Amino acid sequence: MGNLGETLDALRSELIDAVNAAEGLDALEQLRVSALGKKGRITHLMKEMGGLDADARKARGQDLNALKTDIAAAIENRKSTLAQAALDARLMEERLDVSLPVRPESEGRIHPISQTIEEIIAIFGEMGFAVAEGPEIEDDWHNFTALNIPPDHPARQEHDTFYLPGENSRESGGGRTLLRTHTSPVQVHTMQSSKPPLRIIVPGRTYRCDYDATHSPMFHQVEGLVVDEATHMGHLKGCLIDFCRAIFGVEDLPAKFRASYFPFTEPSAEMDIGCTREGGEFRIGHGDDWLEILGCGMVNPKVLENCGIDSTKYQGFAFGIGVERIAMLKYGIPDLRTFFESDLRWLRHYGFSPLQIPSMVGGLNP
Ligand code: PHE
Repeated sequence: MGNLGETLDALRSELIDAVNAAEGLDALEQLRVSALGKKGRITHLMKEMGGLDADARKARGQDLNALKTDIAAAIENRKSTLAQAALDARLMEERLDVSLPVRPESEGRIHPISQTIEEIIAIFGEMGFAVAEGPEIEDDWHNFTALNIPPDHPARQEHDTFYLPGENSRESGGGRTLLRTHTSPVQVHTMQSSKPPLRIIVPGRTYRCDYDATHSPMFHQVEGLVVDEATHMGHLKGCLIDFCRAIFGVEDLPAKFRASYFPFTEPSAEMDIGCTREGGEFRIGHGDDWLEILGCGMVNPKVLENCGIDSTKYQGFAFGIGVERIAMLKYGIPDLRTFFESDLRWLRHYGFSPLQIPSMVGGLNP
């Protein structure tokens, strides 16, 4: 018996050494088959037990089972060691250095229009305005009639746009379908769908039949609307003066409001800011000249009524800012048409790094 026991110990250490030396999962599997498989060495020894007497068979059976368990455990152990090593190797190989800068040739640029819209949003966001968006295809009622521009109103001439085929149903206001000429129809949608107090800005694309160095048939606006019970002209002035000072980064920028006319506001004003004119170029700040920068006014009570808001209880102000104009002045871009020519060299020159996200804390003027 002692003899047999020694043989098993020798076999155990031989197999365990082989298992621990196995270099891969395939080699390990071969070892398993050769020891524990149908024709394996341990299986073979088990079959041989048949010739032993009952006591010897019992003792031998226990030894062989223990051996089997040990070898199976050694194989499992080795398997997980190998798997871990394979994973470590893969992780080393696939390692990425996330601190490396982007390759200059693959870094995109943010378009000055997008950047300027983000700057405007950052300023009004800080003042508590929410961003509202709406469709670029509008019906006549939302774009004109609700805003107190009835069908024969002369203001429609300045807002000549692109019309789509078909008439709108009476429920949606009637009239032709068109590309919106300002983002004001979003203010109408907002007044129809939510109750005051309202404080929104509306950035977006707008369309008019115009094309020269300062007009393009597609352009961008950010309009704003405040409606509540107590807002007055003083709030309008304070809010817009703060905005102009922040966007141009001139703390004591001179500003004045000139009486004007818009059908949707009463009274209406145009806001001018101080500048110097050198040749064809403007420098925003102190100077002896004025530059018109935006239109604004107190919301016409008729517009509130058209949108289902009680004009005896609520009032507010609205304004409209041309994004291209702000971007041209701020970043010295002379020709508006270049904004939409999709020239990559232009974008590399005038564009912004995707990481220069404008904010009131991080800075608006990169
Ligand atoms: N909707 C006007 C336009 O596009 C701009 C504006 C908005 C003027 C609000 C005054 C008040 O011409």
